[in-house]
Amino acid sequence: MNPALRLAYPPALVVVSGCARLTSTPNITLPSAGTLVNDFPDSFDASTMKEIVPSPPPIVRNDAAAVQALFQQNVVPSYGRFDIVLSHGSGSYLYDITGRRYLDLGSGIAVSALGHAHPAITEALVEQSRKIIHVSNFYYHEPQGRLAQALVHLIGPGKCFFCNSGVEANEGLFKLARKFGHDEGRFEIITTLNSFHGRTLAGIAATGQEKVKKGFEPLVPGFRQVPYNDLEALRAALSPATAAIMVEGIQGEGGVTLASADYLLGLRRLCDEKKLLLLMDGVQCGHFRTGRFQSFQRILEGVPGGETFLPDGISMAKSLGGGFPIGAFWVRAPYADLLGAGTHGSTYGGSPLACAVALQILDVIQREKLADNARQVGDFFKSGLQQLANNYPSVIQTVRGTGLMLGIELVPQIPNLTGDSDKAQAIRLALLLHAAGLLAIPAGAQIMRFLPPLNLRQGEAEEGLKLIESVVARLAV
Ligand SMILES: Cc1ncc(COP(=O)(O)O)c(C=O)c1O
Repeated sequence: MNPALRLAYPPALVVVSGCARLTSTPNITLPSAGTLVNDFPDSFDASTMKEIVPSPPPIVRNDAAAVQALFQQNVVPSYGRFDIVLSHGSGSYLYDITGRRYLDLGSGIAVSALGHAHPAITEALVEQSRKIIHVSNFYYHEPQGRLAQALVHLIGPGKCFFCNSGVEANEGLFKLARKFGHDEGRFEIITTLNSFHGRTLAGIAATGQEKVKKGFEPLVPGFRQVPYNDLEALRAALSPATAAIMVEGIQGEGGVTLASADYLLGLRRLCDEKKLLLLMDGVQCGHFRTGRFQSFQRILEGVPGGETFLPDGISMAKSLGGGFPIGAFWVRAPYADLLGAGTHGSTYGGSPLACAVALQILDVIQREKLADNARQVGDFFKSGLQQLANNYPSVIQTVRGTGLMLGIELVPQIPNLTGDSDKAQAIRLALLLHAAGLLAIPAGAQIMRFLPPLNLRQGEAEEGLKLIESVVARLAV
């Protein structure tokens, strides 16, 4: 191979008495300008790749402190991280760099829909990357067209736009609402208290939680929040400038709170009456987590008028790519061409690689009937949690959620839940669950969320319940 393409990991890391240390001079050989053109041999294959990208040096393999030091020195500290250094995963389990195993009931916050290291995802990545990884959205390619078709088929008549994350999907819907109301001078989007819509400037303006906004004022104008599940509050909040309403079918970060069927149907009627767009954020609660593709489909099951309910826009991300970054929004047919050529875009949005992975995930979900699994194992897990709430009422106040989007609400101020009192109870409980070998995701101060892979087995749910009980029983008075 061409030695000019041989790169070493910059800057090189060396081990000194078990600690990683950075050498001062990066060891990179850059190719000269002329050597890059058509330089791959005809027989380019995966073994050639191994030569170009050598294995990382073995420095960090067994040294959590070294990895944490790399973060402390080099990574913006915008996350409060737990003291766990993960290495790899398999199915519903994750392993840290010491080899300790955790049952992963968080799935990277509802992302790893097929669990970890699923061979179908690996296959899609390898197969598609052998063909083409990226093309500009100036051109057409089959995977994006097929994925859009599949999503339209799952939701209803309309069209899709692809991007890379949940907040970017919401941002697209905000732009859709602005375009929709523009000629009448309408621009305002009403959202709900305790909602979460992402971390960009528009995302935090839309989010109904003060903690995400603090320090970033002045906020993007045109967003106001009203209480969730309160139709009258929403009606009262409308102004001549209102163009759209956005809600989550199930508030995730807000604490696993379901919209009621009456609320959803009422929102649809209100939007029709006032000529507003009804937008739904399906980033966390979507993609079969509830047993149906979108949470509103599950909530409205068997409810008169429910089967014909459709919002005007839906944002998606997280499980759509199972860990590979992809986001999307669907827009209902009457408004599907509002964002015309030149009005919106994303360099990486809907790349052949991302779409191939998303298509493969949909295929596995369908083939292995994972929507049914989410419903059945979810019901099993939820009734187990309810049993724990009945047995330990001094610890668990309520059980919430549906399918594999579940939560337990803690009793305020559990005396035995010791630890750093500056930390919320949900964080302190998460630490105890980690020590027991289970990963779950706090939501606010009092709620612990369980968002496992959609292919969680009943035996794994049972194991999870036992681990949770082992912690909760110790906290009970
Ligand atoms: C409901 C909801 N919307 C939007 C987002 C933002 O998604 P992302 O982090 O991919 O931008 C999240 C992330 O947790 C979410 O839960």
